[in-house]
Amino acid sequence: MTELLTPATAPAATSLTTARIPRRARLRHFLMCRPDFFDVTYSINPWMNPAKPTSNALAVAQWEVLHNLLVSLGHHVQTIDPDPALPDMVFAANGATVVDDKVLVARFRHPERDGESAHYVDWFRAQGFAEVVQAAYPNEGEGDYLTTGRAILAGNGFRSDPRSQAEATELFGRPVVGLQLVDPRFYHLDTALAVLDQDEVMYYPAAFSQESRAVLRALFPDAVIATEADAVVFGLNAVSDGLNVILPEAATGLAAQLRERGFRTHGVDLTELLKAGGSAKCCTLELRH
Ligand code: ARG
Repeated sequence: MTELLTPATAPAATSLTTARIPRRARLRHFLMCRPDFFDVTYSINPWMNPAKPTSNALAVAQWEVLHNLLVSLGHHVQTIDPDPALPDMVFAANGATVVDDKVLVARFRHPERDGESAHYVDWFRAQGFAEVVQAAYPNEGEGDYLTTGRAILAGNGFRSDPRSQAEATELFGRPVVGLQLVDPRFYHLDTALAVLDQDEVMYYPAAFSQESRAVLRALFPDAVIATEADAVVFGLNAVSDGLNVILPEAATGLAAQLRERGFRTHGVDLTELLKAGGSAKCCTLELRH
């Protein structure tokens, strides 16, 4: 009998030891928001230029490819209704952090996005989540709070307030490790670092302070290190289920590194959403049960 080798188990061409890690997808539960009212009408990060034209139809079409891909991979994807007054609401990752069914709803740094929080509070309550609390200090949800097996990583420096870390520690009862972001292009942690598997990450070191780089090296000595070229096309704004990694198609170097490690990569074109400073991960909030 011939054994079928899938990309996940096939030996990689290079001799990286990590290539032999057996990869397994774990089915996830995501919340997304269709960009029906997507637009760039204000600027709260260096990517946003209201003078540059945007196409709403194109944003929806690109978002649908991402949505359908997640569904086709077997994930459970729910959606929250967009609000015409909130053009950034497509970036559902910012709405909350959900760990062990506990929901810490965002408090946005900028007044332009402030109205989103109430929608998330209502949505989670309506879904029957028992513990739904809104952060007291600025906290932009999974934009800055990324859960790994050993700790919750918390970005600060641009959006989430370091004081929001104590709230997360208390609610989730897990260690929270603060990481300071220093490059305005990578203003949210999920633009500079992605969680690939339990305790496996990829990141762009120059986006972090010296101290935070040392923390990352100590926590994740085998991390995938991204180049600036892959980081500026938002290659790190990726969604992984442990086997499949969905990332912007322009991040070709990063995709090659991931395949060497046994991941299956899925390049997507989300360039319309990048005009607002977001991509694949920004559009997906993971609901961890
Ligand atoms: N325009 C949005 C903002 O500046 C983009 C948010 C991107 N989301 C993310 N999770 N990084 O807030």
